[in-house]
Amino acid sequence: MNYTKNCLLPWSYMLIHAGGLMQTCPCASDIEIGDFLLDYIEKRDENPDIFNRESLQMVRKGLLTGNLRKMCRDCAYNTAELITTDELKQKVIQLLQSVRKDYQYQEGDDLTKQYAYTTIGVGFSNRCNLRCLYCNQSVCADTNPFYKAEFPYEYARIALEYFVNRGVKGIIPSVEGEITIYPHWYELYSEFHRNHPEISLAITTNLNREYSDEEIELLARHNILDVSCDSLDPEVYSKIRVNGRLDLLLKNLTKIKAKKEELHIQNTVITIHIVVCNLSWESLEEVSEYAFENGFGLNIGNYEERANARGYREHLLCPISQMSGEVQEKVSKILNRIRKRAEELGLDERHFVCHGDIIERLNKQVDRNYHRFEPVENICYQQFYKENPKGSEVSFLDIVYDDNNIAYTGIHFREKTPVVLNGLANIKRVVVREVLVYKEGKHSPKFDQRTAPGYRRVVTIEDGTLEVIPQGFTEDIDSILVTIEPLREKDE
Ligand SMILES: C[S@@+](CC[C@H](N)C(=O)[O-])C[C@H]1O[C@@H](n2cnc3c(N)ncnc32)[C@H](O)[C@@H]1O
Ligand code: SF4
Ligand code: SF4
Repeated sequence: MNYTKNCLLPWSYMLIHAGGLMQTCPCASDIEIGDFLLDYIEKRDENPDIFNRESLQMVRKGLLTGNLRKMCRDCAYNTAELITTDELKQKVIQLLQSVRKDYQYQEGDDLTKQYAYTTIGVGFSNRCNLRCLYCNQSVCADTNPFYKAEFPYEYARIALEYFVNRGVKGIIPSVEGEITIYPHWYELYSEFHRNHPEISLAITTNLNREYSDEEIELLARHNILDVSCDSLDPEVYSKIRVNGRLDLLLKNLTKIKAKKEELHIQNTVITIHIVVCNLSWESLEEVSEYAFENGFGLNIGNYEERANARGYREHLLCPISQMSGEVQEKVSKILNRIRKRAEELGLDERHFVCHGDIIERLNKQVDRNYHRFEPVENICYQQFYKENPKGSEVSFLDIVYDDNNIAYTGIHFREKTPVVLNGLANIKRVVVREVLVYKEGKHSPKFDQRTAPGYRRVVTIEDGTLEVIPQGFTEDIDSILVTIEPLREKDE
């Protein structure tokens, strides 16, 4: 049994960019799953299955086995929480059975080949009127022709109808650019909403345009209207949201709220989206108060470093996790206060969204809890956890992935300080293996890899006690993960 991410997106959600690029999720940086224009639109007479390409199956397999791709290990979008591979399998089966009423899981079904797409994020235009520091637009909009890509109107209509026919229940019309500046935005989505009111529309927008009254109404009729606003301080706002105008955003928001009230629109959830980073954290409280006072929800984004963004390239932005312990503690307190307030107000999961588990991650960091997971099965790890509830800088429960994404679970040693495990009276022998992690720039001479699993050896337990001392430290080794598997009686 392995640990894995609690993520169902590669079975249920797809992102399609204006240039056609398809992705499993916003963090899918290391796998190519195809091009919607070339692989579907161009070949639509052949009715190709874009939802089951081999590369998608590879991502699903990584999640189902715990041998996670790098993008899933580093993911800033999904929760940091790990679950067991058995738990994820059950969740996938539940998803398939609840969405595809005809599907019944049979033992042995290959779940990498099954899917139930419920939500599609599709940005028919990559263009943007802003150049926010954390966004690729800040670098690429004026240098990369891909950032001027747009779906022709007819293709956009074909795409939307295709998703409806495939049983999709929600469309997110915003991906990488600002969809409300797409010339066909109003025509396309007002028609779509009229024809398919049952399909949820969830837009994230910068609201930085003058809108007609009809456009304000369309915005007010979205099921989720998520408005990006990192600060209510105009200086901070325009520092992050380059070219953005806070006054225009607030004016539009007021008009939308009034329209919603005037037309008695009940089912629109409006949220304010704040991306938490070094420049925005001091605005968190003011933005959340403004949101809650106005009956809006809050969408707390986890700043993800992007190599093609000015904020990263020019060292203008950094995630809270890279700031001083003092700041982390302050932000952790602020976020916990905001979450408590949201609970008091009875906000549901559509009104209070936290990306990437940012509050839990920060709490764990401030609490100096070093363990990556809570052991559920292995008595040796459970014993270590019991005696060291938070681990330490020197040894903690962790998962290390080798260069082929194979996962190794065990006690991670940063130095050669022994760990003594007691309370193992019921075990006679264990199988121990050292996984060597080489320093940056160094690699195993045998495999030319930075992470090298060593040989397995059987160790006898004396008096219910096992002393673990990592042996493989040399000057090239950064750390060592030791896996310890109790030998079951039938293996003896
Ligand atoms: C890519 S934008 C597209 C929609 C629209 N243009 C907007 O800004 O609202 C979607 C959301 O992602 C956020 N975002 C952009 N770059 C980010 C990053 N590097 N890390 C985390 N969130 C980011 C934006 O603030 C916005 O709320
Ligand atoms: S990168 Fe994150 S969101 Fe994407 S499939 Fe992996 S765990 Fe899920
Ligand atoms: S408004 Fe949205 S798409 Fe445009 S630069 Fe900002 S984050 Fe990126």
